[in-house]
Amino acid sequence: MNIQSLRGMPDFFPDDLKKWHLLEAVLSDVFHAYSIEEIRTPLLESTELFSRSVGNSSDIVNKELYSFLDKNQKSISLRPEGSASVIRAIIQKKQEHEKHKLWYQGPMFRYERPQKGRFRQFHQVGVEYLGYEEGLSEFELISMLIKINKQLGISRYSLKINHLGDIEAKENFCTALKSFLKPHLSSLHEKDIARLASNPLRVLDSKEESTKLLLKDAPRFNDFISEKSKLFLKDLVQHYSDQCEIIIDSNLVRGLDYYTGLVFEVVSEELGAQDAFLGGGRYDHLSTELGGKPMPAIGFAVGLERIIELMSVQDLNVRAKVALIIADEQDNQKTYKIAHALREANLEITLDAFLSNGSLKSQLRRANKTHCNFAIIVGSDERSTGKFTWKDLSEHGDQKLLSFEDLLEVYKNL
Ligand code: HAM
Repeated sequence: MNIQSLRGMPDFFPDDLKKWHLLEAVLSDVFHAYSIEEIRTPLLESTELFSRSVGNSSDIVNKELYSFLDKNQKSISLRPEGSASVIRAIIQKKQEHEKHKLWYQGPMFRYERPQKGRFRQFHQVGVEYLGYEEGLSEFELISMLIKINKQLGISRYSLKINHLGDIEAKENFCTALKSFLKPHLSSLHEKDIARLASNPLRVLDSKEESTKLLLKDAPRFNDFISEKSKLFLKDLVQHYSDQCEIIIDSNLVRGLDYYTGLVFEVVSEELGAQDAFLGGGRYDHLSTELGGKPMPAIGFAVGLERIIELMSVQDLNVRAKVALIIADEQDNQKTYKIAHALREANLEITLDAFLSNGSLKSQLRRANKTHCNFAIIVGSDERSTGKFTWKDLSEHGDQKLLSFEDLLEVYKNL
């Protein structure tokens, strides 16, 4: 039997990747405009990093981590997300006292049940603002996510937002929720009883109808957070509500344990069941949890497989593409000389030097199929007159004969 790829771990072919490159270019332009610098961390980390950050009681660590013993019997894991690694790297470099605006991209791994929009290897681009207290950084990150959507032509989405208060508010709320649900344990689904014991906040995320019904009369997060936090949330919503749809969702707790303060998700109905294509929030205590010095932090990550579904940017071939066609017998040395001179003249242009010696007709067909805008034909004309055929491949495009110098000039100015 042929060897297949692992479930939930798709391949990406050149045609898929055109859109990915465009997405990555738009994101990196936005980060550049916000003065954010790139960081790269390894795919493998010690398992302890994720149990102490994302949390032992989270589904991500509890059920979805790809963990192995290495040759030294140390438990290591493929990263399920990027924030913990970034904080680990900054602590390791002893830079917690500095301010950082960082972005990263790459594959993440979660052993989830694969379905539309949910993979076991998926890709995130994330942003982390480190050393910034609650305030301007929240505003800047919300404005950035609006900008990203705008640049990608995404207009139908909602920003769900909630404020989890500080650690004390989070703890008080959990205690209140536990005592509210205690007399109703018999009507709770067993999954939710387990959640109530390990991580009561996750009960708010429950998909069980009986739990949802009970939660209608449960204590509200909003009653446990300070006036300052409430005002801050109100301010944010007021400021951005004319730029995107904002929904305050008091049940939004997110699946990772490290959050306090603002949490948010960007969702689109067009994605179906897995509707969140961006998620983030503040996590001021992660640095100390991981043994570092105090360092406030906030960030978000975009799920690339999901956001790419929503992108409506049409122009995938921004660079001109030129086919170099050798119409009669192949002369490798000459072909490469011409190709080399053209690339020296303008590296911005994609030059596809056809390496087959099919007929002129079949090579032109291939040039059209591969979306070339122009073709340079080296053949009998060139042999008799010393001129090259320059052919515009658009619908009513013409063709002309050019000397090599003129050809280079045209190519340079494309
Ligand atoms: P997250 O919400 O777990 O947050 O993931 C962020 C995004 O990654 C999700 O909104 C979703 O689009 C995408 N995603 C997650 N799991 C999958 C999957 N199995 N298949 C496809 N896409 C997926 C975090 O990871 C946090 N580290 C974000 C953050 C950064 N918070 C602060 N800074």
